[in-house]
Amino acid sequence: MRALTRETLLSPGDFVLPLFLHDLTVDEAIDSMPGCTRWSLDGLVKEVGEAVALGIPAVVLFPAIDESLKTKGAEECYNLEGLVPRAIRALKAAYPDLVVMTDVALDPYNIDGHDGLVEDGEILNDETVAVLCQQAVCQAGAGADIVAPSDMMDGRVAALREALDAAGFEKVSICSYTAKYASAFYGPFRGALGSAPKAGDKKTYQMDPANRREALRELKLDEEEGADMVMVKPAGAYLDIISDVRKNTTLPVAAYQVSGEYLMIKSASADGWVNEEAVMMESLIAIKRAGADVILTYFAKEAARVLKA
Ligand code: PBG
Repeated sequence: MRALTRETLLSPGDFVLPLFLHDLTVDEAIDSMPGCTRWSLDGLVKEVGEAVALGIPAVVLFPAIDESLKTKGAEECYNLEGLVPRAIRALKAAYPDLVVMTDVALDPYNIDGHDGLVEDGEILNDETVAVLCQQAVCQAGAGADIVAPSDMMDGRVAALREALDAAGFEKVSICSYTAKYASAFYGPFRGALGSAPKAGDKKTYQMDPANRREALRELKLDEEEGADMVMVKPAGAYLDIISDVRKNTTLPVAAYQVSGEYLMIKSASADGWVNEEAVMMESLIAIKRAGADVILTYFAKEAARVLKA
């Protein structure tokens, strides 16, 4: 009876697995995110093989860039021989049907640890957008299927679309981080990549957690600018936003269950306070029920295993 009347179904096909990588030959467990690893290229290819075997269709890549390559202008982000392009090529060679999604933002590459270029303590919006375009074209050139700008600069979706088309990448999709909040739930992620801002915070470009209507303004802009998919982030504390976005667009809606959400479930269950599997599945079904078609989650493999069992 419950199966007949169930309104929401999860499937491994809903998930995107976020993966961390570094330019070393060893795989390294991430202290700030139990269960997550900074992968070598070989390790990454093996890990993605397991995800593919579990029915997970897509991954998103986050690089930990060597400090020596970080600059004020974040030039490494459009180096075709850089870590991310090499990883994309290795993954597409091993799994041609895999959807490879990339992060478009400067924080792993810039010495300031901000998603944009910084001058005198301020983020330079338009100058940043120009660099993001070079980054996205580089990722598309390496074989990325979806570029996902997480930087929250104004006007970047239109600029990326134009730059991608001009470079011959009309088929590369843009998944915009439409409503990305200035959230404390990102803490463990910044530890994993060593990408925390050196000064200030991200409140001048990420959204105020107090704002709900503003998400719909961001949605309208992203639609007008040509986004193919729109994202809400974080997910669990922003289910109202996911629901609003779902009701106001016909585009696919993605939601990102971020590092802090993952870690709270991991640590509470490691201490035996909650049942990890049950809470994990409940958190994911809630995100889907709120209206997400696509869920980015560090639990993708574990949840897919539960769904397959
Ligand atoms: C930055 C970026 C962040 C995340 C994804 N891309 C952190 C931030 O905005 O500071 C967070 C993901 C997570 O916490 O799991 N471009």
